[in-house]
Amino acid sequence: MRFLEEKSEIINLIDLGKDYYQIVISAPEISKLARPGQFVNIKVTGSLFPLLRRPFSIWSAKENYIEVLCKEVGIGTKILREKKFGKISLIGPLGKPFPEPSPEDIVVLLGGGTGIAPLSFYAERITENKKIFFAGFKHLPSPYLLRRLEEVCETLIIATEDGSMGFKGLLSELIEKEFKNIESEYTKYFVCGPYPMLKVFEKILPEQRTFVSLEGIMACGFGICMGCAVKKKGENRYLRTCTDGTLFSLKDIEI
Ligand SMILES: Cc1cc2nc3c(=O)[nH]c(=O)nc-3n(C[C@H](O)[C@H](O)[C@H](O)COP(=O)(O)OP(=O)(O)OC[C@H]3O[C@@H](n4cnc5c(N)ncnc54)[C@H](O)[C@@H]3O)c2cc1C
Ligand code: FES
Repeated sequence: MRFLEEKSEIINLIDLGKDYYQIVISAPEISKLARPGQFVNIKVTGSLFPLLRRPFSIWSAKENYIEVLCKEVGIGTKILREKKFGKISLIGPLGKPFPEPSPEDIVVLLGGGTGIAPLSFYAERITENKKIFFAGFKHLPSPYLLRRLEEVCETLIIATEDGSMGFKGLLSELIEKEFKNIESEYTKYFVCGPYPMLKVFEKILPEQRTFVSLEGIMACGFGICMGCAVKKKGENRYLRTCTDGTLFSLKDIEI
């Protein structure tokens, strides 16, 4: 795994409403190395507080910059939002890239909230396969977010918990309903989102063809602290989300 620390700067911030925002970060080195499924670990201030870096999936990587989709949930994501065009330190790209699909694969992407970000980057880079993107949100997503998803996938299906767009209810409820229409021996499912959502998908999707990208608590981000341990299914040992993942086959881990 090749990664580096890059002193960077937020060069644009777009407010996407309801706690969501996008940051564009100048990162000429990391952007060249970044592949779908990888993440960056961000030090949001130059001081000791908050101490730990915060991990974020790479939403897209262009010539000199990367994009990150953030949800404000606590102190780090609040500081990041308020920094606007401030300096930050990045470590990345971390984690293993998602695998290249086989030509016959039908790629079904299942993203909840900011879990759409790594899947959208994957969809952007997969050009040959049939792709279906299911995205779940609590509330109406911003037009900008929707446009970004439409740009990377020919079929986009939305679920909102408040019913403001698409299917009314949880993404998992939508998939339970649609499963027979999308399932085939060629369908591969890529899932990213909150843990309760992953737990439901664990019950309804085929273990052999389902891959989950984990976004649990992390510290170092590159394999030193074991802060991101996940139990290997059927064995008495642990894998590290940051270096062995973030993507795991459902048959390999206990969620
Ligand atoms: C590999 C990876 C990729 C991620 N990608 C994204 C992304 O693209 N966009 C995004 O917005 N977030 C992403 N996250 C989650 C993000 O790292 C956390 O939301 C962030 O670190 C919270 O920092 P904070 O200081 O704002 O919250 P804190 O003040 O530290 O905590 C506030 C609350 O959020 C909870 N929390 C903190 N970290 C997490 C977490 N990892 N998962 C669930 N709850 C958490 C805490 O338990 C607490 O209740 C990712 C996490 C990982 C591990
Ligand atoms: S976060 Fe430290 S080992 Fe994974």
